[in-house]
Amino acid sequence: MTDIDRSSHTPPAADELPLRMRAIVQDRYGTPDVLEMREVATPAPGDGEVLIRVEASSLNMYDWHMTTGTPYMARAMAGLTKPKHGIPGADVAGVVVRVGGDVTRFRPGDEVFGEIGHGAFAEYAVGRETSLVPKPAGVTFEQAAAVPLAALTALQGLRDQGGIEPGKRVLVNGASGGVGTFAVQIAKSFGAEVTAVCSTGKVAMAASIGADRVIDYTRDDYTATERGYDILFDNAGDRPWSETSRVLAPGGINVTITGPKHAILGPFRRLAVRKLQSRFGDRRMTWFTAQVKTEDLELLAGLLDAGSITPVIEAIYPLADAASALRHLGHGHALGKLIISVRDVQGAEERAAHD
Ligand SMILES: NC(=O)c1ccc[n+]([C@@H]2O[C@H](COP(=O)([O-])OP(=O)(O)OC[C@H]3O[C@@H](n4cnc5c(N)ncnc54)[C@H](OP(=O)(O)O)[C@@H]3O)[C@@H](O)[C@H]2O)c1
Repeated sequence: MTDIDRSSHTPPAADELPLRMRAIVQDRYGTPDVLEMREVATPAPGDGEVLIRVEASSLNMYDWHMTTGTPYMARAMAGLTKPKHGIPGADVAGVVVRVGGDVTRFRPGDEVFGEIGHGAFAEYAVGRETSLVPKPAGVTFEQAAAVPLAALTALQGLRDQGGIEPGKRVLVNGASGGVGTFAVQIAKSFGAEVTAVCSTGKVAMAASIGADRVIDYTRDDYTATERGYDILFDNAGDRPWSETSRVLAPGGINVTITGPKHAILGPFRRLAVRKLQSRFGDRRMTWFTAQVKTEDLELLAGLLDAGSITPVIEAIYPLADAASALRHLGHGHALGKLIISVRDVQGAEERAAHD
């Protein structure tokens, strides 16, 4: 576990915490226009929870699904007629300012990052202590906020679903987005040989984060040219099993995290069909949903600290521009991660420029 740097943050006294805070709030499902900056009550941590002064958050397609309420089956979790949790934002990086009962791992002043499900597009947010880990001292809040959901998905997909090992041949399709940029770097950190697939304008970036080969999908069809891979880690999920199976070596596996999205069921029906089809041969297909695990966040903190992964950040938006950031993400062609900086956008941009 990474050591905590307690030197730079003096926790506020009880009467210094504001009763109200600025937050991005949504009262109904819809396009990102439903997101509004408002003053709301500052939340209080319950048992097992901490209150974080949010420095930065990042966007995931998960936030898109929670904001738009699509696919409709997402509403079973997010609230049937309107959002259960009014403030989006799952990824967080910030400073602990209060701890609830039974909290043993953190105390006020600790710098943390993690995945809290909702509420991070705000000045303060509550998260379970098990969803958070210490932020490495040499990593900025913006970098740390880029990591949680995207990198957990890449790690769990490659390691737990794909069984990655040194020397394995891995192809990452959709290598230039949030999950893909971490998948390339994490696969390299496991000692794999990595081919990245992305669009023309992102080929240089994919090579710069360690891909051994890069395929521009606007020019070449990887399912026609590539063969003999142990793992096809697919962040686009746009091709049928009859085509992706050709890319795999016997015994190889296609780990998919998404697919063509049906309005009600999302990608799940198509993915279930592909998984069933893959039962009849010597190559397998699987899909999964990432889980928040403390030990995996700690592993990612270690990779960050060691410089084995460096978040690729396309842009840093101020909290008030969360809707613009989500709109950009929704177009489906972000370069790495989009960050929300809650405190100090100018400083955040300068820090990003110097990283
Ligand atoms: N199962 C899970 O637990 C889980 C977790 C996180 C995310 N997801 C899902 O996984 C998907 C990727 O997430 P993300 O956070 O990486 O999204 P993202 O940041 O929006 O990145 C998507 C990337 O896909 C690339 N892309 C689009 N069309 C492509 C194509 N035809 N071929 C290859 N690449 C293509 C885009 O790059 P170009 O601009 O180069 O086209 C873009 O960079 C989303 O659908 C998300 O909902 C699932």
